[in-house]
Amino acid sequence: PLVPMTEMLKKANAEGYAVGQFNLNNLEFTQAILQAAEAEKSPVILGVSEGAARYMGGFKTVVKMVEGLMEDYQITVPVAIHLDHGSSFDKCKEAIDAGFTSVMIDASHSSFEENIEITSKVVEYAHSKGVSVEAELGTVGGQEDDVVADGVTYADVQECKTLVERTGIDCLAPALGSVHGPYKGEPKLGFKEMEEINKIAGVPLVLHGGTGIPTKDIQKSVSLGTAKINVNTENQIASAKAVRQVLAEKPNEYDPRKYLGPARDAIKETVIGKMREFGSSNKA
Ligand code: G3H
Ligand code: ZN
Repeated sequence: PLVPMTEMLKKANAEGYAVGQFNLNNLEFTQAILQAAEAEKSPVILGVSEGAARYMGGFKTVVKMVEGLMEDYQITVPVAIHLDHGSSFDKCKEAIDAGFTSVMIDASHSSFEENIEITSKVVEYAHSKGVSVEAELGTVGGQEDDVVADGVTYADVQECKTLVERTGIDCLAPALGSVHGPYKGEPKLGFKEMEEINKIAGVPLVLHGGTGIPTKDIQKSVSLGTAKINVNTENQIASAKAVRQVLAEKPNEYDPRKYLGPARDAIKETVIGKMREFGSSNKA
């Protein structure tokens, strides 16, 4: 069923695993992620950036595609459709009105007071519709669609506490050195801050930039309250590699099903690997 993230993440915190957010880019990504979740008996969060939603047609198209696939595939595991890095109250409202069960309001680039103001407004509307809300503090490095960072700023521990208290968000993404896209060298995550934030924030934590984080850091993050890990680039790389391989081996191939089918399989395999690594398999 389509659900908000609230219960999913509370259960993950309580039982010591993380739920993966895997980003949608097109039909094949959606198919692969839903198939992986059902095969693994894992809860799953479908992440949709504003750019990806635009690419696919819009929020309504995404919701109807997901609903259709869930019916056709007879999906029984809990699934959330989540707006990733929502840029404004209006965008969050538009996604909620189209049927999203969860939204992220990313006002991390605004001043702290503005972040609280915008996030509170989103929480008020979202909660009135039974939709969960994620907010962000600090800056995740790298670039994802329209979200470009000019440097990495760590989330401030006290601000995390205040933001949660004053807004009523369901989960918090404190930027602590993670990066969108591949890492240059090993990621250096701020585990000391994560531990402190986990102690005082009182909500499940979210780790962005999941691509390329070593298993030991994933496990440490989960032990420090991280209940949601976002992955996009790794699936994109797996899918592009599969397409390249088919087209290199068969330069005369033109049926999209012949190269997008293997791309879909590659995404499914990658997502299954992540679910096992995050510990969410058999937790639905
Ligand atoms: O919001 C989405 C993620 O943070 C994805 O990051 O592309 O580095 O896996 P990634
Ligand atoms: Zn992100």
